[in-house]
Amino acid sequence: MKPIEMGIVGVGWIGEIRAKVCAGHPLIKGLHLCEIDKARLERVAKETGARTATTDYRELLARSDIDAIIVSTTPETTHYPFTRDCLMAGKHVLLEKPIGLELKHADELMQLARAHRLKLTIGYTQRFNPRYAYVKQCVVDGTIGQPVTALVSRNVSRSIGNKIGGRVHLSPAVMEATHDIDFILWCMQPRKPIRVYSQNAYGVMKKEHGLPDTQWIMVTMDDGTAFTIGAGWALPPGYPHFSSATIEFIATEGAVLVDDSHRDVILNTMKNRMVLPLSTMPGEQVGHVYQGPMAAETIHFIEAVAGDRPVLVTPEEARLVMEVTLAADLSAERNAPVSLPLD
Ligand SMILES: NC(=O)c1ccc[n+]([C@@H]2O[C@H](COP(=O)([O-])OP(=O)(O)OC[C@H]3O[C@@H](n4cnc5c(N)ncnc54)[C@H](O)[C@@H]3O)[C@@H](O)[C@H]2O)c1
Repeated sequence: MKPIEMGIVGVGWIGEIRAKVCAGHPLIKGLHLCEIDKARLERVAKETGARTATTDYRELLARSDIDAIIVSTTPETTHYPFTRDCLMAGKHVLLEKPIGLELKHADELMQLARAHRLKLTIGYTQRFNPRYAYVKQCVVDGTIGQPVTALVSRNVSRSIGNKIGGRVHLSPAVMEATHDIDFILWCMQPRKPIRVYSQNAYGVMKKEHGLPDTQWIMVTMDDGTAFTIGAGWALPPGYPHFSSATIEFIATEGAVLVDDSHRDVILNTMKNRMVLPLSTMPGEQVGHVYQGPMAAETIHFIEAVAGDRPVLVTPEEARLVMEVTLAADLSAERNAPVSLPLD
């Protein structure tokens, strides 16, 4: 494998995690950061020993020594133009979900990656969670037979609902259920989704953000199998960005039931009472080890570029997830099922 230089645009919550994983990896010979929050940029650059730091992402594009770029910016309206520019500058890209806000943007990014022979992958981090990979493996190796149905019910803390609601008007389908839709579609391959029905439930997020607290999404596949995803982002504050999920994957010869509710570690202090640490979706650094799937996902991208290996999450898969989430929003709005592919 050939050591590479990595750029990261946006070192907020997620970009900082990725920057620190890159900084500690032997295949990264140089790290280049871009962030418009100058104090944040300075701190993360110092902590990661970044080779360069800038507030203008075009400076990363102009550097011929940078092989790949991770786009971790918000608001999500930046994803398409930034990724387009990175691909046009000849950089491999790991883009955080969603791949775009319109299908034509996803199509253009895929076309650019193909034309320039570049790797383009999307941050569907849960595929790198060993429990989720185990469900996929049980389907692939035949342990549980042919898929019949699945349920993923996820609720995250309102710190996330407020963070997302405060910047863009995107639904729980597009911003939260997207991870679980990707995961179940991946397990169900080669089946394809043909119909989506969705309902929103309103509570505390409506007044401030005009958004639902929870969105339920039922997806029918082309062979008659069906799955349901529930995505809520209004749990009261506890441990920052707490996430609780239940997975039931039912097949003809067996089932896999996963408790990803993060209730297995309790911290109790006089100051903050009981909280459930190590309970976010991407995970966090704990001393010398990383808890959670985001480190493995970031390393997979580094190695895919350094070793010219295929990426696990293809842009075609991410586009399909996007189509399902757009159909879910249409269905909730029309109060009727929506057929795929979308017009
Ligand atoms: N894979 C996962 O598990 C996971 C979890 C949470 C969020 N995400 C995704 O990751 C992305 C980042 O989320 P976050 O929670 O880190 O957001 P954040 O708001 O904490 O960080 C985004 C950063 O981008 C910076 N930024 C904005 N415009 C910029 C520009 N022009 N140039 C450089 N920097 C710029 C902001 O200043 C901010 O620091 C989002 O798209 C989100 O959907 C993924």
